[in-house]
Amino acid sequence: MVEKRYEWRDGAVLEDHSRRKHQILRNYFFDYITVRCQIPQMERFRLAVVDGFAGGGRYVCGTAGSPVIFVEELKNAITAVNAHRVGQGLKPIEIECLLVLNDSCSDATEQLRANLAPLLGDIVDTTPQLHVKVEYLTEKFEAAYPKMKLLLASGRYRNVLFNLDQCGHSKVERHTIMDIMGSYASVEIFYTFAIQTLLTFLRGTDPQRLARQLRPFDISIDDLQDQTKGMTKPAWMGAAERLVFDSFNRCAKFVSPFSINNPDGWRYWLIHFANSHRARQVYNNLLHANSSQQAHFGRSGLNMLSYDPADEGGSLYLFDMSGRRNAHDKLVTDIPRLISESGDVIEVSEFYEGIYNTTPAHSEDIHKAMIDCPDLEILTPSGGERRKFNTIAVGDVIKLKTQRSFFPMFLGPTAKKDTD
Ligand SMILES: C[S@@+](CC[C@H](N)C(=O)[O-])C[C@H]1O[C@@H](n2cnc3c(N)ncnc32)[C@H](O)[C@@H]1O
Repeated sequence: MVEKRYEWRDGAVLEDHSRRKHQILRNYFFDYITVRCQIPQMERFRLAVVDGFAGGGRYVCGTAGSPVIFVEELKNAITAVNAHRVGQGLKPIEIECLLVLNDSCSDATEQLRANLAPLLGDIVDTTPQLHVKVEYLTEKFEAAYPKMKLLLASGRYRNVLFNLDQCGHSKVERHTIMDIMGSYASVEIFYTFAIQTLLTFLRGTDPQRLARQLRPFDISIDDLQDQTKGMTKPAWMGAAERLVFDSFNRCAKFVSPFSINNPDGWRYWLIHFANSHRARQVYNNLLHANSSQQAHFGRSGLNMLSYDPADEGGSLYLFDMSGRRNAHDKLVTDIPRLISESGDVIEVSEFYEGIYNTTPAHSEDIHKAMIDCPDLEILTPSGGERRKFNTIAVGDVIKLKTQRSFFPMFLGPTAKKDTD
């Protein structure tokens, strides 16, 4: 893949695969605001959004780019939240948002100012509860990052979302991702990463170049060679991809790499980094609503990372109905196994904390599998049994039944004798 240059002065062309990414970003940001503004007593919500590779705001066809999406969805979300609150007899909420918009190309930031001006003017006129402040920067992201941190620190923002829509795989340092994830009380990153381009580089034979490519991920040439010895090309690609993912997986509590395919055959990851399982749950559910052209590279069920890279057929989770049916079957056996590893009972909140870094599953499929599994019962705080999947709540507990239907791994010596 040759790196794409964006011609913002004459109008940049929007590719189809970017539409998919924009749809995910748009839906996620709307859900993010509505979920964060659910507390009835809340009257003010403050957040900062940093768009590190912001672009010009609109493509030549008129379609919105990420900064315009953020502004439009802020307005849509506060309108929906406040309509709901008025219906409930609650006071409307105020939202204060700092937008830090950076692009290294000055044509892009110039276009962006022009494209945002009418939207920001409209907010002032029509949505007095929404307060948006914009800071523009025109620098390479890594050079701008210390200034971004200062802006966030001086405004004391605790809710922060970064959109790092780089072209390629090398414009954001891994330690910067770790720094972002460690710096704010509630923080999430959307990160575009051209995994296929990196893998193509890694296939090269020049050891010095290979070492340079691997260094940012803390992977040594020996690691790569040990883990890929004698593999066929597809298996090699799978194993190398797994090593790179493992490196990102150490950057945050919840990390999900979803592949977006471009029709020309190359693909990139849209990685979501979060520190709260709730954020990951919202994201997983949303990806199922946008299922075409994307895939998860691990297996379905709870333990997506246990896939065998040599098994190409079983290594992709597509967010479609047949993938979900397959996921349900895996979850019915994975969930009781996981519970048994910590004893015979676990709180639903602790269960979520434990699974959400390792599953691409929809929350509905997880809840249905909990109800359908003959080895489990879900108990409410007062001890009653849940019978409907859509009533499961974080205060419930999941319990292994004493009479288990089938679990060879649990059978002790006596029980084993019975089955012999
Ligand atoms: C994929 S486009 C961004 C598109 C934008 N996020 C959107 O949704 O419309 C990547 C942008 O990054 C800019 N860029 C390239 N290298 C950069 C760097 N090192 N730091 C910041 N911006 C960079 C390019 O000028 C281009 O506008």
